[in-house]
Amino acid sequence: MLKKLFFNWKMNPTSPNEASSLFAEFVSLAQSQPQISLVVLPPYVYLSELNQQLQTSGVTNLKLGAQDLARYSAGAYTGQISGQMLKNMGCQYVLIGHSETREAYQLSHEQINQKLLQSLESGLVPILCVGHQSDKTITEINYPELSEQVTTALQNLPTEFKTEFYLAYEPVWAIGTGKTATNPIIEEVSQFLKQELAKLGLDKQVGILYGGSVDDVSIQELVKLQQVDGFLIGGASLKPEKFKTISQVVANQV
Ligand code: PGA
Repeated sequence: MLKKLFFNWKMNPTSPNEASSLFAEFVSLAQSQPQISLVVLPPYVYLSELNQQLQTSGVTNLKLGAQDLARYSAGAYTGQISGQMLKNMGCQYVLIGHSETREAYQLSHEQINQKLLQSLESGLVPILCVGHQSDKTITEINYPELSEQVTTALQNLPTEFKTEFYLAYEPVWAIGTGKTATNPIIEEVSQFLKQELAKLGLDKQVGILYGGSVDDVSIQELVKLQQVDGFLIGGASLKPEKFKTISQVVANQV
């Protein structure tokens, strides 16, 4: 199966017009490469307009997602956005526990778990991000910490859920730095994550993603990864020439 591509715009761009122009590039990419699955994760404030743009375009291989969601379903939680609101806005995916969000809100593993449960309850496909600052090299990967991130986040899941589900390995030192983890490291960590998922009976349901400085250059090597089902892309999501090359390389994958 071709690897799936997730584009995290983070807190960019600054105006609705820019968001719409950038999204138009993704629409044309999706139209020109119908075999590729693309998911764009814009800031909340653009979702409604981009969803209309998406509906008008008629493309089916481009979807929308959000960068976070609340731990609760509704109520007196000022500043929070619920899973159901996102779903009603045309979102199908949601990032959970991105390292930048974990740090900004000092999220505990239990709080990540609550967000995950909310995503499933609202019918959003979760993309759970894991990875630690301390994972600097293959010999220093903090496996007990990774294991805790995964097992605590995935506790008390409903016994039956039929949605897609992704676990993104994002070594924090690789995010936005231009440094990617090497393929052997990513394969080793992916294997470890699959073993952790197997202990929870989830290894068949959960796809593994890699994120951290995936761009038009690093993708040439990363596309060879066997254990990985897709990529989470940050900085290169804002540069059409870069994300078009990434998509082309993935499309050419045999
Ligand atoms: P990056 O970001 O591609 O800019 O490293 C990845 C991410 O934060 O998901």
